[in-house]
Amino acid sequence: MQDKISQIKKEYLEKIGKASSLKELDSLFLALFGKKGEIALLPKEFPKLSDTERRKIGPAFNAVKQELEKAIEKKREEVREESYKALENEKLTLQGVPLEARKGHLHLATQFKKEIIDLFNKLGFYQFDAPHVEWDKYNFEYLNIPKDHPSRDMWDTLYVDTSRLEVEPGQMLLRTHTSNFWPRLMEKGKAPIRAMSFDRCFRYEAIDARHSHTFNQFEVAVVGEKITMANLKFLSDYLLKAILGKEAKSRFRPKYYPFVEPGVGIDCLCVFCHGRGCKICSGTGWFEIAGAGMIHPNVFKSTDLDPKKYTGLAWGFGPDRMLMIKHEIEDIRYFLEGDLKFLQEY
Ligand code: DAH
Repeated sequence: MQDKISQIKKEYLEKIGKASSLKELDSLFLALFGKKGEIALLPKEFPKLSDTERRKIGPAFNAVKQELEKAIEKKREEVREESYKALENEKLTLQGVPLEARKGHLHLATQFKKEIIDLFNKLGFYQFDAPHVEWDKYNFEYLNIPKDHPSRDMWDTLYVDTSRLEVEPGQMLLRTHTSNFWPRLMEKGKAPIRAMSFDRCFRYEAIDARHSHTFNQFEVAVVGEKITMANLKFLSDYLLKAILGKEAKSRFRPKYYPFVEPGVGIDCLCVFCHGRGCKICSGTGWFEIAGAGMIHPNVFKSTDLDPKKYTGLAWGFGPDRMLMIKHEIEDIRYFLEGDLKFLQEY
């Protein structure tokens, strides 16, 4: 019996020593102490022993039983320790979302604004902010668009309700274009002027994919001695080539605007079909992208600037429309909707 006990002890201490997982240790524990385990079964043989033998075997059996129990417990601790260490060293495979990916960025229109303002800063233009809520005179009258003149029909205007102010109805409006900035500057009576405005305008529009009540315009105005159409052509090409690439081609077409004489519509050769005619340019091969001209002498009348000494040019276009063409954005409403899918794309 003594030999058997020693044999079990030797065999199992060895097995416990080699075990490397909790699962293995559990099955060793069962093999020893389970219902039919080697240690559990041994006492069943004790009745066969003589009294003296039993007195010897009893304590030896208990000692081995305890030793094996402790050995298993100790080994369990070691295995646990090791698995913790392994976990610590293991690299996590599930990556968190990097902060960078969640950071916001400037709106497409704001990025474009910065780009264009930088371009014109280089030519010495400065940004002049005129009010969004404007007097009729700056938006229309000083721009050679008298009251009740049919040319007013070119702008669908949103008027401000002035019934609570001491202001005649129809005098205050949301400006329909950025052109209000140049009579404001010219009335100060100082030349030369080399200014620009990239800002919001508003119109009473039936909203659809191409029309919005709120949109941007970019406009430049230059007043000085010997300012001519040649300067206008240079500025126009400078901007279009910078935005659409060196190959961009444009043409001037006579066009009526009340505040310029001569007035021109500026078309740009379609960047998609190179003039052949496609869906985007409605088959014409050209896009109308800007309006421009030489400042009308009547606009000088509301200022102290002498139109015999000074001439001026003005050039304006819709950056939202330009971005729609450049990025093939089919609906102008995306600019104001704040839809993340759209915002994140640009
Ligand atoms: N203000 C015009 C509009 O909103 C655009 C425009 C036309 C601006 C001719 C100009 C210009 O500076 O010379 O339709």
